[in-house]
Amino acid sequence: MLIYLDNSATSFPKPEAVYRAVDSAFRDCGANPGRGGHRMSLDASRLVFSARETIADFFSIADASRLIFTSGATEAINTALFGLLNPGDHVVTTAMEHNSVLRPLRVLEKSGVSLSIVDADASGSVSASSIAAACTDATRMVVMTHCSNVTGTLMPIETVGEFCRGKNLLFLVDAAQTAGHIPIDVDALGVDLLALPGHKGLFAPPGIGCLYVREGVPLRPLIHGGTGGQSEQDEMPLQMPERFESGTLNTPGIAGLKAGIEFITEVGLNAIMAHEQQLVDLLVRGLNSIDGVTVYGKAGSGHHGGAVSFTCQNRDPSEIGFILDQDYDIMVRVGLHCAPGAHRMIGTFPAGTVRVSPGYFTTIDQIELLIQAVHKISLGQNRF
Ligand code: ALA
Repeated sequence: MLIYLDNSATSFPKPEAVYRAVDSAFRDCGANPGRGGHRMSLDASRLVFSARETIADFFSIADASRLIFTSGATEAINTALFGLLNPGDHVVTTAMEHNSVLRPLRVLEKSGVSLSIVDADASGSVSASSIAAACTDATRMVVMTHCSNVTGTLMPIETVGEFCRGKNLLFLVDAAQTAGHIPIDVDALGVDLLALPGHKGLFAPPGIGCLYVREGVPLRPLIHGGTGGQSEQDEMPLQMPERFESGTLNTPGIAGLKAGIEFITEVGLNAIMAHEQQLVDLLVRGLNSIDGVTVYGKAGSGHHGGAVSFTCQNRDPSEIGFILDQDYDIMVRVGLHCAPGAHRMIGTFPAGTVRVSPGYFTTIDQIELLIQAVHKISLGQNRF
């Protein structure tokens, strides 16, 4: 039996209801939404409409038309950055970001956007005051992750959101590691733009995500094309969400995302959080008890999301990941996790760490097996 502990990369397995919803949308709702007046197209449009409402409710978004479907968080972040920033703008971000934030910002830097990258401490924490201190009169936007995908460190987005609101700065939050794991209310957190992946904590298949755009944010479309309406116009329509949704939507993915959120609502986000927190606490305690193992981040302190990174003295993380896979049937992610800056901050660049990321379907037994396996590996005994 394989043990899957790589939920920060993508959640697995998905709830049965998600598999059924994707299959049913693909088979029974296969027409192109918004592209015709016939019954089948209208059925697909209704599915998309109701999914958008479900997602909006989940994130306390009052107007569902402010949610744009994207292929995932990366496209959502690129849409926000390229659609808002202009030469001369200054952006503040953190060293803990994923390359989905840092790489587009580096491209924009070449066209005249300036960048301040705020350091984290050795636990991966970034203080709200250091973000505030990095802002200048030219600052237009603050971009940060809600939770590090390397250390699981939760970031002070509520305080930063309040600061941004006070200074009239745009605030873009990458919720890749928190959506479906902890509550997110865009108004309470002062978020102007929220990037969401479907395939992680929200249990959707890969290839679907969303960008929330607060009303009044002057976003330009990244992708131009057919939207199913106002086809006589040369330019993209102004209305939401069509302005940002050219091309055929991923209806099966959208159906899966809706079903994933319905599953979370049915189980209860608090119950999911409590289970995941219990697993993380167990994991951190167990790993910390092994001689030679170092656990990173503020794990176990209540400032922690789902990812736990560790290293083992004198062992290469990739070797540990390989042994866990080959000898113990345990799947983890090793290396830099597309977030090289985070590893620089915690002192694990360039080899990286072994990252263990449990999810809602992970059991206590599986975490105990992982801990036993790491213990054996630390002693040089590779098999159970
Ligand atoms: N961003 C994903 C991860 O952290 C893929 O593994």
